[in-house]
Amino acid sequence: MSENLFIHPENYFTQNTPPENLSDIIRNTSDFIAENAKHGIPIVLVTSGGTTVPLENNTVRFVDNFSAGTRGAISAEFFLKSGYSVIFLHRKHSLQPFNRKYATPELGFLDFFTTNSSGSISVKEQYQKSMSSDISLFNNAILQKRLYMPSFISLSDYLFSLREITKLLGKLGSKACFYLAAAVSDFFIPNDQMSEHKIQSSEGELFLKMSQVPKFLKPLVKSWAPRSFVISFKLETDESLLEEKARKSLEKYGHQAVIANMLHTRKFVVWIILNDNIQKPEEIHLTQAQIDQSFEIEDLIIQRIVQLHNSFINSEKSRI
Ligand code: PMT
Repeated sequence: MSENLFIHPENYFTQNTPPENLSDIIRNTSDFIAENAKHGIPIVLVTSGGTTVPLENNTVRFVDNFSAGTRGAISAEFFLKSGYSVIFLHRKHSLQPFNRKYATPELGFLDFFTTNSSGSISVKEQYQKSMSSDISLFNNAILQKRLYMPSFISLSDYLFSLREITKLLGKLGSKACFYLAAAVSDFFIPNDQMSEHKIQSSEGELFLKMSQVPKFLKPLVKSWAPRSFVISFKLETDESLLEEKARKSLEKYGHQAVIANMLHTRKFVVWIILNDNIQKPEEIHLTQAQIDQSFEIEDLIIQRIVQLHNSFINSEKSRI
């Protein structure tokens, strides 16, 4: 790849346009952090879902990144359950905490309801208990300002929001946790090289030249939130590369841990790799009995992350 295709992370922000609602996101994030910090509640930023990169300025077509948002949405629920408040930066229309159970590949929204002879609507008997619990958990989290859910669609929406939220949350130091589960594009077309209007098929075959997206973990760890607890994810399809790539990422960026997962088994097994170069990866997996009972692996992942985060906070206290 030629030299000029590499872009410095900070230059990305001068060459691309921020989302229109960025100032709202900054204001809401500041209020959310202030409210939770007042009560000493720990805060986690969970990123979730895939980013898109447009092929045209007036976008008709775009390249998407794989992720349904399942990992992020379920993790957000377990963070809330563990006493954290959650900033859930997610791809618009991807799965959301609590709501996620009511838009599955098998069941659509209307499948949960029934009507009687007079036409009034009610929730089907078999879903009433879980739906009632999810509604109250969700409403309480929003009302008590324990859950804030900004969204993105494109890579640039995501990166501008990530930078601002991270800088604000990073001020909490070790008490802030970053759980970066979003699937972020590695390639994009810079604004000045993008077609203004819909690319015409009458012009024949399409050749795309894409620049490399800078790795934003670097400034995130080194300058936006240098004292905070940062967990990134590593997704691979070739298991022989997984541990090596995760360790390289820790070496390069210096954050606390990587959660490594394979595309096809990610719901049943993950490995937590710590930045100590000593320990073997910690495997977290579901047993067959747990799978049969629809147990969710994020329950186990978050229990472990909370332990690790607490040790991180305590080790910082002992340094002071
Ligand atoms: O949503 P689901 O369907 O449940 O799927 C969950 C998941 C598989 C998407 C999730 O568990 C996961 O692995 N997310 C990370 C996927 C990914 O993008 O991995 P990566 O190897 O490309 O990136 C590694 C890390 O670098 C990520 O934390 C990412 O935020 C970061 N990154 C990536 C690109 C980029 N330009 N800058 C970055 O900082």
